[in-house]
Amino acid sequence: MLVYILFYNKNLIKRSDGHSVQIDYTFFYNGKILYLIKVLNKFLFRIVVCSIIGYSGKLISAAPLLVESLKKMEYRGYDSVGIATLNEGNILMSKGVGKVAEVDKEMDLNNLPGQIGIGHTRWATHGSVNAKNAHPHYSCSSNIAVVHNGIIENYQELKIELTNDGHVFKSQTDSEVIAHLLEKYYKESNFNVNETMIKTCKVLKGSFAFVVIFDNGVIAGARFDEPLIIGISNNALFLSSDVLGFLKYTDKSVFLDNGDIVIIDNDTFRIFDVNEKIVTRPVTQVAWELGSTEKGKYAHHTIKEIHEQTLTLLKPFQVSNNFQTFCEFLRNASNIYITGSGTSYNCGLLGKQLLSKFAKIKSEVVMSSEFQYSSDSLEPNSAVIAISQSGETADVLHSVKKAKESGAKILSIVNVPTSSLARMSDSLLTLNCGPEIGVAATKSFMGQLMIIYKIVNILSRDQMPFDEINQKHLLKMVKKVLRLDGVIQNLISSLDKNIKDIYILGRSIHYPIALEGSLKIKELAYIHAEGIAAGELKHGPLALIDKESVVVVLNPTDETYQDVISSSNEIKSRGAYIIGISNKKDDVYDRFVELPDVDSYLYPILEIVPLQLMSYYLALEKQVDPDYPRNLAKSVTVK
Ligand code: M6R
Repeated sequence: MLVYILFYNKNLIKRSDGHSVQIDYTFFYNGKILYLIKVLNKFLFRIVVCSIIGYSGKLISAAPLLVESLKKMEYRGYDSVGIATLNEGNILMSKGVGKVAEVDKEMDLNNLPGQIGIGHTRWATHGSVNAKNAHPHYSCSSNIAVVHNGIIENYQELKIELTNDGHVFKSQTDSEVIAHLLEKYYKESNFNVNETMIKTCKVLKGSFAFVVIFDNGVIAGARFDEPLIIGISNNALFLSSDVLGFLKYTDKSVFLDNGDIVIIDNDTFRIFDVNEKIVTRPVTQVAWELGSTEKGKYAHHTIKEIHEQTLTLLKPFQVSNNFQTFCEFLRNASNIYITGSGTSYNCGLLGKQLLSKFAKIKSEVVMSSEFQYSSDSLEPNSAVIAISQSGETADVLHSVKKAKESGAKILSIVNVPTSSLARMSDSLLTLNCGPEIGVAATKSFMGQLMIIYKIVNILSRDQMPFDEINQKHLLKMVKKVLRLDGVIQNLISSLDKNIKDIYILGRSIHYPIALEGSLKIKELAYIHAEGIAAGELKHGPLALIDKESVVVVLNPTDETYQDVISSSNEIKSRGAYIIGISNKKDDVYDRFVELPDVDSYLYPILEIVPLQLMSYYLALEKQVDPDYPRNLAKSVTVK
């Protein structure tokens, strides 16, 4: 009923991508209903992420650099763009709706003069998608402009107070309160930037990072549960939500901690906390290959990254990953939790099965968003394996915080070694697979699987072989499967264009891959897809199967083979169209994708590849952009 109210209430408007967004509802609701709407609203907007860049340099104009940086961070997802620069004591601003290149063309962002500036790509949360709501936001007297990532939870109370004090709001965003608060404290403190920043941060509630430009040439930033990184080059300082924002200019980075405030004044910066205590953070050298953020010969990042798996598969073993230390923590743990979200969670599911099967180690896998409710047996001697490509997923970070409070050891598997998760960990294994730009996790999933297999190999004392020879052979086999690209493209184009549902069946270690395959199809092709443990069919899902159903069957020749053939026959007799993925052909399949022979425990690594390719080609058939699926963001940094 409430969902009905939400979608049909005029306080919600439809965004161009079909997503509904809130307009100010404060004056329309009160009491219980307001509260409920607030809760649902929060839920609706959990999938948000914006990009921030701040630049203070001497040699080049800020605007082209800001535009270029925002383009580098496009993969994070956004709907509007804006920049502000300082020129002869005035803050100039230009912003609009659309892609960076479109807004640049329309508003001539590149030509905004000045050597200091801030920029932002916005993913609408509070307020619809329009130029007014795009960042940056001015204070009333335009002596301050701010860009913000995250959610200010108490913005409504603050907005009322500030409005009563005479501040005039121009947008519907929560972010604009930051600009007005800063203005208030700037004036009250007689233009003392330190004091202004501290007072503002003390008042704000929520998870946020923001960067502000003052008309005196100072740039400042604050990090409270959203990432913010300083980039240090010889001639300039940067503040960004992502290292890709400045990596072209420098690989020297300082990762701010939660509660850090930074002030950049000319070519120096200082970091302090809300008690004005100066803090020092180490300078880290970030090792990304910039080249790999380009698409090269591929039409999309997603297909590039699927094929790139042959280059990245062995990467976890080509850096100084300390598997022994990581495994030692696990050996000493009284109980083991594995946590992650989405794809990373699916990897955890496979990890649990392999640990149990080969190392006889019991573990519990909990989705990070559920961790707070299902981790009651955490104790100082527990170990939590946190899996996350980005290392910035809010749900994962919250789970880890909770685990840390119980004294548990945090063992993480991440792609971004400088991420928040990495820095909270007692032991860390990195995928080292380079930036993953496509929103769908593909090569990072492969890297996670490789790490999980190595851990199980060590803990099983080689009961599950996974040495260099196995790994290299596996690489050859993955290459072989990737050569099926054309076959899979044809297969997908031969399917009915109006497929409504796809089911993926697998038992045992193939079940997590069935789940992962279905996640890829939903995410990339917007088709309802479901991973089903084949044995569960007769307990319910079989009722869904009819002539319209497309069923993908993961069925390599292992202990599950015969049972899955039986399930396939049951499905076939209900008229479904069956695509078999296996090393052994069977008449029950309408279409067959042939996998090469490998040791049976390795099939999950092979069978995910055709599922990734299927999802990609289904997206192309549907004419949707596989790199930037609607409503989703690469890093879900808000709970
Ligand atoms: O960066 P993370 O691995 O923590 O991200 C978790 C999920 O948001 C992510 O895996 C998501 O499910 C993928 N985009 C799916 O392809």
